[in-house]
Amino acid sequence: MKILMVCLGNICRSPLAEGILKNKVEQQQLGWAVDSAGTGAWHVGQQPDPRSRAVAQKHGLDINKQRARQFTTGDLEEFDFVFAMDQSNYSNILSLATTPQQKEKVHLILEFTGAEDHNVPDPYWDDNGFEQVYQMLDKACSRLLKIVTEKVS
Ligand code: 4NP
Repeated sequence: MKILMVCLGNICRSPLAEGILKNKVEQQQLGWAVDSAGTGAWHVGQQPDPRSRAVAQKHGLDINKQRARQFTTGDLEEFDFVFAMDQSNYSNILSLATTPQQKEKVHLILEFTGAEDHNVPDPYWDDNGFEQVYQMLDKACSRLLKIVTEKVS
């Protein structure tokens, strides 16, 4: 199983989602591959935002080794599931999908949580938003791990 987390810059939300899901996958010894990417190229090669690194560290996760990369059309072939952080990321990814099989791989990460708003807010401009984003993603990753596990078993 190969899972890709996608946001805009790949420095705030999707690196956290990658770190959170990787940790759960390791705890359950599932052997899944988890990666992240951004639809934009501004931060390619950079470490996650210091505020994402700090909130990850607060919860016992080390995401310091991650480096931002841009989402490519090849990712829609390579990965089994692609989780977008918000509607804008979702639309951008879908616009690159060329087959029904590729489109089926793409989901909003909050789709399965029962949340009314399916957008993970972009915390880039809000220093105080990172803990809330962490909590949303932690819940979403637990849900999607269960759903994907059930789907493939
Ligand atoms: P992310 O947050 O998509 O969660 O990584 C952002 C990071 C950078 C920018 C926007 C959003 N930016 O405009 O540079």
